[in-house]
Amino acid sequence: MKKILVTGGTGFIGSHTVVSLIEAGYTPVIIDNLDNSSDLVLDRIESISGARAEFIRGDIRSENTLNELFAKHRFEAVVHFAGLKAVGESVEKPMRYYSNNVEGSIQLLKAMDRYDCRRLVFSSSATVYGDPVSVPIKEGFALSATNPYGQSKLTVETMLRDLAAADERWEFTLLRYFNPVGAHESGLIGEEPNGIPNNLMPFIAQVAVGRLEKLSVWGGDYDTPDGTGVRDYIHVMDLAEAHIEAVKSFKPNHGCRAYNVGTGGGYSVLEMIRAFEKASNCEIPYSIEPRRSGDIASSYADPELCHRELGWHAKRGISEIMRDQWNWQRKNPNGYTVG
Ligand code: NAD
Ligand code: UFG
Repeated sequence: MKKILVTGGTGFIGSHTVVSLIEAGYTPVIIDNLDNSSDLVLDRIESISGARAEFIRGDIRSENTLNELFAKHRFEAVVHFAGLKAVGESVEKPMRYYSNNVEGSIQLLKAMDRYDCRRLVFSSSATVYGDPVSVPIKEGFALSATNPYGQSKLTVETMLRDLAAADERWEFTLLRYFNPVGAHESGLIGEEPNGIPNNLMPFIAQVAVGRLEKLSVWGGDYDTPDGTGVRDYIHVMDLAEAHIEAVKSFKPNHGCRAYNVGTGGGYSVLEMIRAFEKASNCEIPYSIEPRRSGDIASSYADPELCHRELGWHAKRGISEIMRDQWNWQRKNPNGYTVG
């Protein structure tokens, strides 16, 4: 059985990818410090897949923890999710972001080098395109950062490109996620953000179960068909499957490759509200408010390169996204709780 180290594997995207890895015949080993996740996820993954993933509670910045992990297992590759992702918090606490996201990645790469494991899939983000000149966004577009979170992703991308150029034994795949949403169709795992959600879908879902009163739509005057922001929402299980293709595609002289992981189309905030209402039969009260600082009008991927080189494309559409988002929230109105 091919072992894969999954950093951040109890988190939102990590947990769904662990399920896909097990289904694809891999043996995932998870390291996570549970900073933004619950170890109850492990029981849920087991219920879905029938396999218990080995779990180490630890921080990727700890050299000792990583040494123990790599000494015990021979990994085929590392899928690296561990990191922090709240844009607003990154502006207030930049060092927390550089430490977890950049320093954490450096420690991980050092450990991989020591133990002769040089294949890594990195969780990057469409945020590395900053404010793109046009849509759909292609991988060759200019890269820039507009906040410390984005800068931390860009810095790790640059580091990986430099490392692959300096030493051809390294093989890196950078997956630039657009907007991951939805949940596993079982409703057993899904997204449970700490505190009040910043992102649209968990916010809408928490309004539906009565945890939040109403949605603020940030901006109704963008240059988009209905004036609200347009994004490329990708089902988290499609995203999980992209990681399987990425792991399978490593080969000598792979170097460092970057792919957009999106559907190739966008939905506005108002379209998302309507689609959720249809799937859930719940009304989502909302009001149009001023724009949120740092937001752009429209962002969606050209996913053609990922299709051509990894053989991956998104299979699930907006109705599956809303069905699964609602199923997860309905069954777990307060997220992961015991019992
Ligand atoms: P998440 O917070 O649910 O998962 C990240 C996991 O990493 C958490 O379980 C957290 O406890 C763990 N972690 C954080 N710092 C750690 C450390 N130093 N050592 C060990 N574990 C640590 O987030 P997610 O949505 O699953 O995102 C996964 C990755 O994808 C992140 O790197 C994120 O930046 C990136 N990404 C996410 C999105 C999104 O919208 N969700 C978009 C683009 C990129
Ligand atoms: N929105 C609202 N109200 C809310 C939340 C969001 O109207 O309460 C709107 C936003 O203005 C935007 C759209 O819904 O038009 C999507 O917003 P999200 O916060 O869900 O997602 P973003 O596109 O702003 O950001 C996400 C991730 C970032 C990542 C970025 C690019 O959260 O980490 O995608 O990949 F950098």
